[in-house]
Amino acid sequence: MTLSGETRLAGIMGWPVSHSKSPRLHGFWLEELGIDGAYLPLEVAPENLAQAVAGLIALGFQGANLTIPHKEAVIPLCDSLDDTARRIGAVNMITVGEDSSLNGSNSDAFGFIENLRQNSDWSAADGPAVILGAGGAARAVAVALSDSGVPEIRIVNRTVARAETLIESANIENARTESWDSRNDALEDAALLVNTTSLGMTGHEALEIDLSALPSRAVVNDIVYAPLQTDLLVAAAANGNPAVDGLGMLLHQAVPGFETWFGTRPEVSEQQRSFVLA
Ligand code: ATR
Repeated sequence: MTLSGETRLAGIMGWPVSHSKSPRLHGFWLEELGIDGAYLPLEVAPENLAQAVAGLIALGFQGANLTIPHKEAVIPLCDSLDDTARRIGAVNMITVGEDSSLNGSNSDAFGFIENLRQNSDWSAADGPAVILGAGGAARAVAVALSDSGVPEIRIVNRTVARAETLIESANIENARTESWDSRNDALEDAALLVNTTSLGMTGHEALEIDLSALPSRAVVNDIVYAPLQTDLLVAAAANGNPAVDGLGMLLHQAVPGFETWFGTRPEVSEQQRSFVLA
């Protein structure tokens, strides 16, 4: 698409940002929909975040996504926060209003649930959910599951105190913590297992877990997408469990930003997925 004088601008601020798949996945939609817009990688050092955000407004950007390490640091720079972002305690998208005000929101919880719904038969009423991890990604997953009405959420984390803080600060109902050592037993009668830890990611330690207590109808979702087929998903398939990979969450979380900034709601598709993976 050739750019005009009226091109709509958005991007992603990260440090580093070169690994980000977001320019490619938004770029696919801009091309597919023939939109006069651009979505740019914006490498912003932590000490330059406030200046970069002010620059975004001064330059007439529609908004931007935020990735590591800016998701929490951007909060005080926002004029308003939506409820989900406030509960998750992190902002992954900012939108510039017509009055130049900045609204912070979080589409990670939406992306997580949409990916699960589109790629499995999971429904919230199926039973307890087990979340491995209690970091930023776990907060988004816990808020999403709690809002969907999951009857019981078990948060298994190496540092139990961090899981307790998550439950309290994000106001997660029907949740309890489990120690890392009891992770295998915590799977009993669960309908969903989600890995939000960095274990199993390329360059990180392996995730050691025994799935034998997990009912075979339970859906297993790894939000790690590098590699796409993690050892957890391979073990899930071997155990007879439906497995959902993490790339879909990344694709789906981008939908609200794209719609807000470029004016058309895009569809996550197999073609887009292949394009992002290529
Ligand atoms: P993010 O914000 O992307 O979710 P994070 O805040 O660094 O990332 O969280 C990483 C998660 O992986 C945490 O739950 C962490 O456990 P702790 O809270 O105890 O640190 C978990 N994790 C990382 N390395 C781990 C390991 N070797 N064993 C068990 N859990 C691990």
